[in-house]
Amino acid sequence: MVSFNTQQLARATLISAALFQSATAVANITEDSYFYGQSPPVYPSPPQPGSASWATAYAKAVALVSQMTLEEKANITVGYTPMTGCSGETGSVPRLNWPGVCLSDAGNGLRATDFVNGWPSGVHVGAAWNRNLAYQRALHMGGEFKKKGVNVALGPVVGPLGRVAEGGRNWEGISNDPYLCGALAAESVSGIQTAGVMTSVKHYIGNEQETNRVPDGDVAAVSSNIDDKTLHELYLWPFTDAVHAGTGSIMCSYNRINNSYACQNSKTLNGILKTELGFEGFVVSDWGAQHTGLDSALAGLDVVMPESTYWGVNGGNLTIAVNNGSLTEARVTDMATRLISAWYQMGQDVDFPEKGIGMALDYSTPHTPIYARDPSSQTVLLNGALEGHVLVKNTNSALPLKSPKLLSIFGYDAVAPNKMDVPSPSDVIATWTFGFESLLTYVPFISTTAPPQIAINGTIISGGGSGANAPAYISAPFDAIKEQAYLDGTSLFWDFYDNDPAIDTSSDACLVFINAFATEGSDRIGLHDDYSDALIQNVAANCSNTIVTIHNAGVRLVDQWIDHPNITAVIFAHLPGQDSGRALVQLLYGYQSFSGKLPYTVAKNESDYVNAGEPILPEGEFQLFPQDNFTEGVYIDYRGFDQKNVTPRYEFGFGLTYTTFEYSELTIEKLAGVSTSYLPPPADVIEGGIASLWDVVAQVTATITNTGSVDAAEIAQLYVGIPGGPVRQLRGFSKVDIPVGSNVTVEFDLLRRDLSEWGVTEQSWVLQSGSYPIYVGASSRDLPLVGTLTI
Ligand SMILES: *[C@@H]1O[C@H](CO)[C@@H](O)[C@H](O)[C@H]1NC(C)=O
Ligand SMILES: *[C@@H]1O[C@H](CO)[C@@H](O)[C@H](O)[C@H]1NC(C)=O
Ligand SMILES: *[C@@H]1O[C@H](CO)[C@@H](O)[C@H](O)[C@H]1NC(C)=O
Ligand SMILES: *[C@@H]1O[C@H](CO)[C@@H](O)[C@H](O)[C@H]1NC(C)=O
Ligand SMILES: *[C@@H]1O[C@H](CO)[C@@H](O)[C@H](O)[C@H]1NC(C)=O
Ligand SMILES: *[C@@H]1O[C@H](CO)[C@@H](O)[C@H](O)[C@H]1NC(C)=O
Ligand SMILES: *[C@@H]1O[C@H](CO)[C@@H](O)[C@H](O)[C@H]1NC(C)=O
Ligand SMILES: *[C@@H]1O[C@H](CO)[C@@H](O)[C@H](O)[C@H]1NC(C)=O
Ligand SMILES: *[C@@H]1O[C@H](CO)[C@@H](O)[C@H](O)[C@H]1NC(C)=O
Ligand SMILES: *[C@@H]1O[C@H](CO)[C@@H](O)[C@H](O)[C@H]1NC(C)=O
Ligand SMILES: *[C@@H]1O[C@H](CO)[C@@H](O)[C@H](O)[C@H]1NC(C)=O
Repeated sequence: MVSFNTQQLARATLISAALFQSATAVANITEDSYFYGQSPPVYPSPPQPGSASWATAYAKAVALVSQMTLEEKANITVGYTPMTGCSGETGSVPRLNWPGVCLSDAGNGLRATDFVNGWPSGVHVGAAWNRNLAYQRALHMGGEFKKKGVNVALGPVVGPLGRVAEGGRNWEGISNDPYLCGALAAESVSGIQTAGVMTSVKHYIGNEQETNRVPDGDVAAVSSNIDDKTLHELYLWPFTDAVHAGTGSIMCSYNRINNSYACQNSKTLNGILKTELGFEGFVVSDWGAQHTGLDSALAGLDVVMPESTYWGVNGGNLTIAVNNGSLTEARVTDMATRLISAWYQMGQDVDFPEKGIGMALDYSTPHTPIYARDPSSQTVLLNGALEGHVLVKNTNSALPLKSPKLLSIFGYDAVAPNKMDVPSPSDVIATWTFGFESLLTYVPFISTTAPPQIAINGTIISGGGSGANAPAYISAPFDAIKEQAYLDGTSLFWDFYDNDPAIDTSSDACLVFINAFATEGSDRIGLHDDYSDALIQNVAANCSNTIVTIHNAGVRLVDQWIDHPNITAVIFAHLPGQDSGRALVQLLYGYQSFSGKLPYTVAKNESDYVNAGEPILPEGEFQLFPQDNFTEGVYIDYRGFDQKNVTPRYEFGFGLTYTTFEYSELTIEKLAGVSTSYLPPPADVIEGGIASLWDVVAQVTATITNTGSVDAAEIAQLYVGIPGGPVRQLRGFSKVDIPVGSNVTVEFDLLRRDLSEWGVTEQSWVLQSGSYPIYVGASSRDLPLVGTLTI
């Protein structure tokens, strides 16, 4: 049961009022008690539900945990320094042969080890808009974690969602639209967990900037101040999908929410995650994100990484707290049960490889090779790389290329870098801040401006930090172009280092490769850079068929040169993983049609984004407690452009291909027996919330015809105008292959949750009666089919 402490609530109200009144005061606020009560207290921490889909695992866990002493239970809630390359390990119970779990980075592939693949990054998965592909990627990637004895994959990322366009980690996430992000995150959870590895979906919640993400001396971590409606409709949405898909773990984030640290926020952990969403698994702290002992235990934190000074070595302070009456033993039992249930739920009690096997701490010392790459992953890696490329400009039939006689290749991003780094783990941490790192992970050296904007020493296939990956090889654009040139008898001319290169005027086309780098630990300083823009302009000045490819870890603006008549084609190539060049050549030469679409909006100018000027810095009286007020509500990205009627350069959902499509025959059918009003909690909570939120309320169909001359896939998108909400919100998508001259009818199921708004008074989802405009089309601004659903 959730109980609100009325005294604390009253105090909260008083303090909030004081906060508003004192906004003009200049003296620094020096006590964080000033903020107490902004995040309502929700205690006690709900024990694991052990509902139907978890019943067997839960029963086994209860049976095992009941044999453990208090000391043994406390011991498995804290991290121990791994003897392997695991990012973290929990304690174990040798007496009962319970081995503990190994947790490792991250959502784009297993990092910091050998014999694994470098998969497309989150943003690339988002740009592909392909549910089955997302599942297949996750399934194959999960298999690699398992072979290396990794019990918990630290991903996928659904927060940051991408509120701040310059966010350093946006590329690890899938899209700044919660529906697209949630749908593909759910597939990622299913895929990895079907392979027998738990997902730890991160970072819960409101982790939208890297600047001040952790405390710095006397300065606390940034507080994401988010109202209840925005939290539910935007930031919580993809976590809800992940919980619904059965994720075994959720990682609490570094930031504060309403001034309470995410790993000790009882409202978000006990209240929202464990009560409202009926979460069955365990909450693990981001590395070093625990800032209190007893308070975090009471607020719902279950496991602390990489070790806990607060709970102590062996979790000894939890034992003391139980013995002195300040913590119930039931809470510690629940921590252990949640962890061990998740272990049983993934079948890790049977034939699971030894923790971190083959993942050496130091690769230069002898270690047993564990070959985790499965040959059947090849197609998935290539398709994954292919489908996340987005073509946004193609004039004068520049693409596809047709057996050119001479191709000129320019730009630092065309080639693989000249070495893989193998620094020590401590170097990795130290260098994150500057954007280059890693352990057997390729991330190139960065240009001299800090924080970095481009990776000057070679092509990027992922961003930097814990989400970087460890490719088995890199197919760079130039590598793959050389192979194709061999087949076609094409001559090549290249210069990767000069940003005002000499140009052979007989070139059929000039391919320019640039990138936009981003990394954990710092936010980007802008959305375009002068060095790369000058390179493109210099080439275009002397080459009338200039084709630009951008490997972009997040939004990259193009207005400095997009209208240049000599720039005939532009590709957002995102972060394709190790098959980057091979995939690009398939697309450039038309062996495959482009099929990706933007999972974010490309503005004409930085200042067009709602959070222009973000990330926020400590300021005013809040120097010691930086405040980030999410005052724009749900109006981020396209919701904000639509609201303010700002024309973007390329809208959310946009992407070209080599054919044309026509949309027709919209049908909208409301299913019988749909009742409006809200669903009173705690009615029938399953993983993700009240079960009937997943009821199909209406069905929509549309027909798409391939009217061009090339087979291609189309991503049909459905948007809904929920009364009182944004002009339109994505609530359906379907990627379909359509041969030339054929048509396909796509179907969209609209669930109760898709049409509901969060009712702050009701504290539940509310389905209003009224008219819901329904739009179906090719992007968020190309919506030829319009109809109405009446509820
Ligand atoms: C955030 O909101 C609080 C409360 O309204 C206000 O005092 C503070 O000045 C705001 N901070 C910023 C940076 O706008
Ligand atoms: C507020 O704190 C900041 C950071 O510690 C410090 O630079 C500044 O001088 C302080 N201001 C006042 C008025 O104390
Ligand atoms: C944060 O504060 C806002 C404004 O008071 C409130 O609507 C919301 O529920 C709070 N959320 C959390 C998690 O504390
Ligand atoms: C606690 O876990 C550690 C690390 O796995 C293990 O070595 C130790 O024996 C465990 N302690 C108890 C009391 O089981
Ligand atoms: C309890 O926590 C304190 C403060 O973090 C720490 O110094 C102490 O060693 C811990 N005690 C145990 C038994 O782990
Ligand atoms: C009980 O133990 C915990 C953990 O050591 C400590 O934080 C707390 O202050 C203690 N409470 C009492 C009443 O002794
Ligand atoms: C990276 O590129 C810079 C600038 O071209 C160059 O000075 C440096 O030597 C390169 N570093 C490596 C490791 O290739
Ligand atoms: C580009 O063309 C201009 C004349 O249009 C010439 O002055 C310049 O040298 C050329 N640059 C290169 C790098 O060839
Ligand atoms: C386009 O390229 C041609 C060289 O092929 C050059 O003469 C012309 O000036 C360029 N156009 C612009 C606008 O730079
Ligand atoms: C973007 O906006 C800023 C500020 O309004 C302006 O200085 C700049 O020229 C604009 N850039 C472009 C490419 O329009
Ligand atoms: C779709 O294709 C079928 C079979 O060729 C055809 O009968 C139908 O008229 C087509 N529908 C549209 C909307 O073009």
